[in-house]
Amino acid sequence: MQLRPMTSAAGTLLLAVLLLCSGSLTSAHNITRILAKHPEYSTFNHYLSITHLASEVDRRTTITVCAVDNAAMNELLSKHLSIYTIKNILSLHVLLDYFGAKKLHQITNGTALAATMFQSTGTAPGSSGFVNITDLRGGKVGFGAENNDGTLSAYFVKSVEEIPYNISVIQISKVLPSDVAEAPTPAPSQQNITAIMSKHGCKVFAETLLASDAEKTYMDTLDGGLTVFCPMDDAFKAFLPKYKNLTAAGKTALLEYHGVPVYQSLAMLKSNNGLLNTLATDGANKFDFTVQNEGEEVTLRTKITTAKITGTLIDEQPLAIYTIDKVLMPRELFKKAEAPTPAPAPAPEPAAADAPEAPKKKKKKAAAPADADSDAPADSPDDAADVTADDNGAVRFDGARYISVVAASVFGFLLL
Ligand SMILES: *[C@@H]1O[C@H](CO)[C@@H](O)[C@H](O)[C@H]1NC(C)=O
Ligand SMILES: *[C@@H]1O[C@H](CO)[C@@H](O)[C@H](O)[C@H]1NC(C)=O
Ligand SMILES: *[C@@H]1O[C@H](CO)[C@@H](O)[C@H](O)[C@H]1NC(C)=O
Ligand SMILES: *[C@@H]1O[C@H](CO)[C@@H](O)[C@H](O)[C@H]1NC(C)=O
Ligand SMILES: *[C@@H]1O[C@H](CO)[C@@H](O)[C@H](O)[C@H]1NC(C)=O
Ligand SMILES: *[C@@H]1O[C@H](CO)[C@@H](O)[C@H](O)[C@H]1NC(C)=O
Repeated sequence: MQLRPMTSAAGTLLLAVLLLCSGSLTSAHNITRILAKHPEYSTFNHYLSITHLASEVDRRTTITVCAVDNAAMNELLSKHLSIYTIKNILSLHVLLDYFGAKKLHQITNGTALAATMFQSTGTAPGSSGFVNITDLRGGKVGFGAENNDGTLSAYFVKSVEEIPYNISVIQISKVLPSDVAEAPTPAPSQQNITAIMSKHGCKVFAETLLASDAEKTYMDTLDGGLTVFCPMDDAFKAFLPKYKNLTAAGKTALLEYHGVPVYQSLAMLKSNNGLLNTLATDGANKFDFTVQNEGEEVTLRTKITTAKITGTLIDEQPLAIYTIDKVLMPRELFKKAEAPTPAPAPAPEPAAADAPEAPKKKKKKAAAPADADSDAPADSPDDAADVTADDNGAVRFDGARYISVVAASVFGFLLL
């Protein structure tokens, strides 16, 4: 359901009524629309959008956005920082708690530390992702980045919009200075994706990836756009026995199955229900999964598993890494639990696919057995057009030899 932008107070009231009446509404607020009503924050609004912070703000509740006016933004822009650095700075202006004007003036003991979205990115060391809010004499409320010598450099100006207790948008007098947030931020292509995963609850998946050829596939894809869905440690640990059972090629395919060769922000995932090809996809209708939204949640469905996106580790075009609560098990590697009669398989058991679903014609296949002949014409997928799939999901070429083609070599041919 889409709501049209409303500009008047009556519109706001109507919006509130609509929200109360609608149980199916997925996003309760839209920061882009809220700020669009106030041209004095248009620069701030623009940068919230292009840094993708806006969709993060829309996804959360109980938050406070500390907006600054165009003059304050121009001062920031005059420093000619990279967009990644600007994102860090602006993420310091999104407090992960609700502070309406009233609460700001009634802070217990007159001072509080608020965690920010910068803190939650994990790039903020120590307490640098916190903002100090302090009630000052004369009803003034001061704001300062916690690592900034306790200097309260900005002041509360006014309340812009309050939707208790989902989102409070307030204006503060200037951009909060923070040496840490302003430090040069590496471009995504220089990011160490396994380090990001390791630091945030996906260490087992990251280490498994590091020990595999799939890591190179991920890195080769990064510049052109990469979205990774990494299973949290509990989920991947529980899956390890099954993983160890896979052939070498099956292992690579499973890891590549958790990467998608395009950048997908959360907003894009939310608005695009349907099939996604993965790094393991090789030819049509193989190693893909379905994205489906359920209320606030985004789920990823294979024929075997349904996983939920549980968090965002990084979202900076061209790279997005999300955590998921289950390992994605492709039907090409695992039998459907219900499948009663698996086809007799010349290849090791776990490579069997559910026979009824397996299309008859396949181009080629990433998950061929480990001892496959890897001299196959990997860089000429069109030559392999008459290859047929057997019931294992493995592919015969010329009816005789298995071919093993590393997905990395055919990225140029993958189109969504
Ligand atoms: C606050 O957010 C919740 C959850 O998204 C939503 O159901 C509710 O309608 C929102 N409240 C208001 C007043 O917008
Ligand atoms: C928020 O509003 C903007 C502008 O109207 C729109 O482009 C964007 O898609 C909206 N976001 C969501 C999550 O609906
Ligand atoms: C407020 O100050 C009192 C006395 O100094 C202290 O015991 C209490 O923990 C403080 N409360 C908060 C929320 O900081
Ligand atoms: C915030 O900063 C003020 C002064 O700069 C300091 O007195 C206060 O203790 C700080 N508050 C917290 C919660 O650290
Ligand atoms: C990335 O981080 C991992 C630790 O997670 C480390 O082993 C690896 O060498 C790093 N790679 C690069 C290119 O720095
Ligand atoms: C590993 O494979 C063996 C033989 O195919 C099978 O008996 C066993 O259940 C599998 N273990 C797991 C954890 O899938």
